[in-house]
Amino acid sequence: MPGPNEPCWCGSGKKYKKCHQARDLLTRLGDVAKPKPAPPALRPVPLHIPRPEYADGGKPRSRGRTVPMTAEELPRMRAACAAARRVLDLACAAVRLGMTTDELDVLVHEACIREGGYPSPLNYHGFPKSVCTSINEVICHGIPDGTVLNDGDVVNIDVTIYLGGYHGDCNATVGVGTIDEESRRLIQVTRECLWAGIGQVKPGNRIHDIGRAIEAVAKPYGYGVVRAFVGHGIGPAFHQDPQVPHYYDPNARTLMVPGMTFTIEPMISAGTWQHITLDDGWTAITADRKRSTQFEHTLLVTDTGFEVLTLAPGETGP
Ligand code: CO
Ligand code: CO
Repeated sequence: MPGPNEPCWCGSGKKYKKCHQARDLLTRLGDVAKPKPAPPALRPVPLHIPRPEYADGGKPRSRGRTVPMTAEELPRMRAACAAARRVLDLACAAVRLGMTTDELDVLVHEACIREGGYPSPLNYHGFPKSVCTSINEVICHGIPDGTVLNDGDVVNIDVTIYLGGYHGDCNATVGVGTIDEESRRLIQVTRECLWAGIGQVKPGNRIHDIGRAIEAVAKPYGYGVVRAFVGHGIGPAFHQDPQVPHYYDPNARTLMVPGMTFTIEPMISAGTWQHITLDDGWTAITADRKRSTQFEHTLLVTDTGFEVLTLAPGETGP
């Protein structure tokens, strides 16, 4: 800016103090007075809880490949998965008509900490909350906020915990109040899809066997199997290769070997499998706005078949 007695920057030929100086000063003061909107603070996790590498910067390390777990690693992986299950069951049991998804977020956040773990979604690629809550036409990655759960809604709660150096990941869809017959059937078929996929887990099978089995269950109902979001290897990292498509993808040829850990998490839609991502960069909804439901387990390939690491107490199948 020019000095007070120098010509004004606007080219009027007047002295700056007689021309734009006052207005520039007000503008600058205005800039100072107007606080920049701060990004919403991440809910704090106590410092004694071990944090994944992205907890502070939001950037996970580059995506690695799932290697079979050793006998030393497995008990820790099992412990993380069992904790994820307990937290998910707690959240599902808490679902009430009229509550907000933010309330579910607080509940999951605090339950993870009580387990001695870190809620894995928190700041993963900058995700702002500790759990994903996806209602009705939201396929996945719904961000908890002030949204109220209404009678007849279906809500998916996706819990992942980082505990003892390993991530355990599971999700479930529950109805709010009284849900209609169509939603009830969609939920049941989605559960059957998950278990059809699990049934393909054994050494010697390939990852694409999972998607083929899931499609065979969903197709007769005319349901869409979402393609953009897939299961994933999991362990020391939240998401590792291989990807686990829930539709038949002939390129998903990874051979299952004992010790491998990955998730199966089919998202089944009442209509199209195509999605739209909302402006928040996370929330994925069905392109036709029909409902989509999901269930997820973390699996271990054993010598003879599978072990469901995130099995609920008493759960034996769909
Ligand atoms: Co999940
Ligand atoms: Co997952």
